[in-house]
Formats: sequence, C-alpha cells, structure tokens
Amino acid sequence: MLSETLLAKLPARVRNTVDRWLEIADVFRELKDPRVARSLGPAGVRGLVLQRGKQGTPTTFPASHAAYFDWTYPSDHPDMRELYRRAKAGQWDGETLLPWHTSVDPLNPEVPILPPQFIDFSILERHGIRLTPAEHQKFLHSLVAWMLSQFLHGEQGALQAAAQVTEAVQFFDGKLYGGTQVVDEARHVEVFHRYLDTKLDKLYQVNDNLFVIIDALMTDSRWDMKFLGMQIMVEGLALGAFGTLYKITHEPLLKQLLKMVIQDEARHVHYGVLALREHITKHLSESERREREDWSFEVALLMRNRFMAYEVYEEWFEGALPREAWRELIYAAPGMEEFRTVMFSRLVPNLREIGLLSERVQARYASVGLMKYAGGLAADKLTGDAMLAQLDAAA
Ligand SMILES: [Fe+2]
Ligand SMILES: [Fe+2]
Repeated sequence: MLSETLLAKLPARVRNTVDRWLEIADVFRELKDPRVARSLGPAGVRGLVLQRGKQGTPTTFPASHAAYFDWTYPSDHPDMRELYRRAKAGQWDGETLLPWHTSVDPLNPEVPILPPQFIDFSILERHGIRLTPAEHQKFLHSLVAWMLSQFLHGEQGALQAAAQVTEAVQFFDGKLYGGTQVVDEARHVEVFHRYLDTKLDKLYQVNDNLFVIIDALMTDSRWDMKFLGMQIMVEGLALGAFGTLYKITHEPLLKQLLKMVIQDEARHVHYGVLALREHITKHLSESERREREDWSFEVALLMRNRFMAYEVYEEWFEGALPREAWRELIYAAPGMEEFRTVMFSRLVPNLREIGLLSERVQARYASVGLMKYAGGLAADKLTGDAMLAQLDAAA
C-alpha cells in the first residue's frame, strides 16, 4: 500500500489514477469470504476494472436461472395475494397523474431542487476552490442530475430483475404479484427518464458500483440471491435515496413524483421480506444462510461507502481537487448523512426480519455503526403511507 506521503508527492494526474486503483483493490480486499468473492468478484471486474457500463454500447448479461411453472395454479401465499390486490388498486399513470406542466428551473435558488446545505462547501474552500453563488447552483444541479440518473439506472435494473424473479419465484401468488412490480418498475423508468430529459436536461452514465450490484444479481442463478439483491438491498437503497430527496426538495413536480414512487417501492420491499423470511429461516442450511448473511453485509458496506459521485467529480474538479478531498466532501455532506440514515433505518430491520442479522454478524454491523437501526419496523409492518408520514413529520 502506498503511504500518504508518497502519494502526496506524485503529480496530480498520476495520483488520481493510483487512488482509483487503490480504491478498487480495497473493494476486492473487503471480499474476505470466498463464496462472497465468487459471487461479487467477476461482477466487480466487469464493473470497476473494465467499466462495462461506460463503454457506450448496450450491455448483455447471461442469465441462467430456472423459470418455474406450476400448472395447478395454487393459492399458496395469502399475504402475497393481498399484496397483489393492493398493487392492482395502487396502479397510476405517470403520464396523466403527474403535473408535467410545472416549469422547472434547476438554477433558480428560490425553488431549490437540492437545498444548498446538502453540501458543506467549506471543504472545497479549504482546498482553495471558491464557487460563486451561481456556480453553487450549477453544481447542485449536476449533483441532483447525477442522483436521479443513478435512480433511473437502478430502476432499469429493477425492471429486468423484477421480470427475472417473477419467472423464478416458486409461489404462484408471488408470480401474480411480480407481474405488477414489472409494471411499477417500467413506470419508474418512464417518469425518472422524463424528468431528467425534459426538466434537468442532463443524464449521467451508470455508476461503477451500482453496475457491480446489478451485474451480480442479474447473473446469479439462485432465485433467492436475486430477491435478496434486488428486493432487499437495492430497494432499501432506493427507499433511502427517494425518501431523503422527497424530504428535502422544494421542487413540487419532483416531490409528487417521488411520493408516488415511494408508495410502490414500499410494496416491493414488503414482497422481498415475505418471500425471503420463510425461505431463509426454514429452508436453507445454516451454511447457506451464513453465505447470504455475509453477502448482504458486504453489499451494505458497498452501498454505504462507495457511491461517491465520481462522475460529477470528473466533470467539475478533476485536476483541481484530489480524489480523497472529493470523497470527504461527499461522505461528510449533510445530505449524504441523511441519506445513509434513511436507507439503513429501512434496510437493517428488514435484514433482521428475514434472518440475516444473527449474533454472528451483529458485532460487524456494530463496528460500522449500523446496529443502532436494528430495532426498527420491517417492511411488512410499514405501509408506503406510514413511511411518507414519517418523512413528512421529520421534514
Ligand atoms: Fe422502482
Ligand atoms: Fe422497486
């Protein structure tokens, strides 16, 4: 490992390249369990090293799961059937329901999409970078466009993963419910893309770490790993991010859009908890359960530490600010702190509920400050409306 002093002596460009490689090496070093490394490792090479999501060409993922048919159409899971009913009743049309006529000016400080206190600009000033008020506004525009672009890419992952888990799931009521989630995710792709395209006029490429998670769960042939990856981890991440933005944005169209999306996402995580609780606690061997427990801890860390918006850094400060200073700016941003709180207060209780927070891993969660969320309500006890009410009360 290169020492800090040695790093500091390198020319800025070389130093940034070295920093990027050290960070990638760090991710691989964290994958200690060989089974977790087998699952996340190849996806890590494709996403972080080869940057497959940024090659400007479509990406194909080989999928090898079994599509499960049942010709007897059993009524086999009353809770999933109920969720299916609620999902049908909760459908909405993104074209007609949202106030698309709203004029959105991302540079207008009177109606901030992201409030200025989202970022602590004094960190930039310590590195000699002073932005004018107009540049602050422009920077926040970039940052929110980056966030929403990652939401959009995540939604594409969710659309394709929802289709896969609908094929693979063995509950017939789960298949019916799954059909509604496919439509939900299609609608989310539609509305986020429309907002970025017609209101923010900006779209960023997929973040390498998000690509790794999507790659890992698209290519894993085990249905429950897809569920765990998509319905618990990525949906948890999404709820954290959507919830934070819903809470802080003053832009009325985006607020309404997020409100509608959050209600759908609450059902998706609920479904994940229903499908996995029984499977993990009753049908898996202890060794299989442990593998999933380790896997979800690694992915939680990846989500906590790795979404550093380097795509925005490259556009704004590459060459002017060291990468480690950028990491500090993003990690210490009050808005990002809020995002981690909302995300983990949803995610950790869900992991507990499906049997992936045994005593064996609690010390690991505690060491990264995540055990404090373990007592919260899991998704099967929390409706979208209750979630929104909590966010409104805290806003
Ligand atoms: Fe979604
Ligand atoms: Fe979803």
